Amino acid sequence: MTSAAKIQDTVKLHNGVDMPWLGLGVWKTKDGDEVIRAVTDALEAGYRSVDTAAVYGNEAGVGQAIRQSGIPRDDIFITTKVWNADQGFEQTLRAFEESRKKLLVDTVDLYLIHWPVKEKYKDTWKALIKLHQEGYVRAIGVSNFHPHHLRDIIEDSGVVPTVDQVELHPLLQQRELRQYCAEHQIRLEAWSPLMQGNLDLPLLQELAAKYGKSPAQIILRWDLQQGVVVIPKSVTTSRIRENADIFDFQLSDDDLARLDQLNENKRFGADPDNFNF
Ligand SMILES: NC(=O)c1ccc[n+]([C@@H]2O[C@H](COP(=O)([O-])OP(=O)(O)OC[C@H]3O[C@@H](n4cnc5c(N)ncnc54)[C@H](OP(=O)(O)O)[C@@H]3O)[C@@H](O)[C@H]2O)c1
Repeated sequence: MTSAAKIQDTVKLHNGVDMPWLGLGVWKTKDGDEVIRAVTDALEAGYRSVDTAAVYGNEAGVGQAIRQSGIPRDDIFITTKVWNADQGFEQTLRAFEESRKKLLVDTVDLYLIHWPVKEKYKDTWKALIKLHQEGYVRAIGVSNFHPHHLRDIIEDSGVVPTVDQVELHPLLQQRELRQYCAEHQIRLEAWSPLMQGNLDLPLLQELAAKYGKSPAQIILRWDLQQGVVVIPKSVTTSRIRENADIFDFQLSDDDLARLDQLNENKRFGADPDNFNF
């Protein structure tokens, strides 16, 4: 169950940091005007969290939009990620500094290892631990980590990530990972929650009609009711608002169970055990 009752509600990560349940994703959003407009629209709609990454190439626009919003820096939660080519201890420290400068911030709220690059992710994790200890990052986590990757860094470092951001939606429900994360107080965050716009499933249409909501809103609500943080992406003002209008209804247990049956273990992105970038 979720404690998310309104747009700016937060969930407490295991290190005590509060993270908004809803954030704006900006993958494929162009740097400059497009990302500045999307982030500005989102902040005006009440979002207080933005998910970017060095590899998205739009950290500068995200930083600019946040700065020019006039909203106090402490009220906005910024996530960014170290890219695969920059992994390793020293390289990660350098990559972080570049991200921090582009974002125009002193500290980043959540810094993630973008993908588990073999032979490197343990050293990358040690760099994130250092950045956290030195106060440059409020929380550290990972992305695209299977349970075996999580086990590996936890055994190696003794430090449990606060968040694992993974592909998660009705067609890919990540049951084993969910179990592991629940046991270790790791908060799951769903990327591509809207299946990259492939929302044309009969059950989603049926529930959308039943609740007077859209298919996107049905999925995002399903996430929240299971304690999953969501970061839908849109560059369309009306959709940015629509994706935030998910705090005034509740899916029934029966409908949650029906959505659970949609799982096909189908990925739109790469499998973290088999990626070539
Ligand atoms: N850690 C990782 O490896 C990783 C990987 C992928 C994504 N992510 C993060 O997760 C975020 C979200 O994932 P995503 O960008 O892959 O996909 P997504 O949020 O599942 O879907 C975005 C797509 O859906 C469309 N859309 C948005 N709202 C909609 C609505 N209400 N109705 C119909 N269509 C809608 C968007 O179109 P318009 O923009 O044209 O409105 C866009 O084409 C990313 O932006 C990124 O921040 C992380």
